[in-house]
Amino acid sequence: MSDKKFNNIETERIILRSFKESDAEAFLKYRTDPTVALYQGEGWENFVLDQAVEFVKEQMNFEPGIPGTWFQIAIELKNSGKQIGDCGIHTLSHDANQVEIGFTLDPAYQNKGYGREAVRCLLEYIFSVLNKHRVIAVTDVRNKNSIRLLESIGMRREGHFFKNAWYKGEYTDEYLFAKLKEEWK
Ligand SMILES: CC(C)(COP(=O)(O)OP(=O)(O)OC[C@H]1O[C@@H](n2cnc3c(N)ncnc32)[C@H](O)[C@@H]1OP(=O)(O)O)[C@@H](O)C(=O)NCCC(=O)NCCS
Repeated sequence: MSDKKFNNIETERIILRSFKESDAEAFLKYRTDPTVALYQGEGWENFVLDQAVEFVKEQMNFEPGIPGTWFQIAIELKNSGKQIGDCGIHTLSHDANQVEIGFTLDPAYQNKGYGREAVRCLLEYIFSVLNKHRVIAVTDVRNKNSIRLLESIGMRREGHFFKNAWYKGEYTDEYLFAKLKEEWK
């Protein structure tokens, strides 16, 4: 069973909101940037506008909390209305009380603290609104920016998987980060 439609959440500088059709171009531009796509799974570099439009439209009609699916949320800058990234909630298929998160920012807006502002807000939503038991994040061990972000918001590194992921032609190492609801705040 799903939880509910997503309502906008505001922080000091950003708004987390549902995707709009008009986001497709900006979404495509930053998601296909090679520096952004580097550790993001196969294929994002080659995404084209039709796929971005389809992705955005699908997400517009989606809800968080459906086991086995990713729900993506747009990150918008409050002062300009520009969509600068996205974050996502993957409700695990074996236990809907546990979710995985993902996050991506347009390179022009990285290193300004927007990533941690968005992910902190996402965790608050996951624990306080969706009432989930545990959040995890999985990242390539070479993804320094992602690791720095996860550590900065207090996620615990619980695992180092050695050469567990076949990725872009080689087996790579991944870290597993986690946080429990009872540890939040
Ligand atoms: C991972 C990613 C989302 C991080 O985004 P980000 O916004 O740069 O991350 P942060 O919020 O942690 O940025 C923090 C940096 O901004 C700096 N910063 C500048 N102004 C700031 C402000 N007003 N407030 C807070 N931090 C600020 C901080 O000092 C910090 O640098 P430091 O850790 O050296 O001190 C981004 O690099 C990205 O999109 N990568 C590609 C996609 C990807 O790999 N995603 C993860 C897959 S697992």
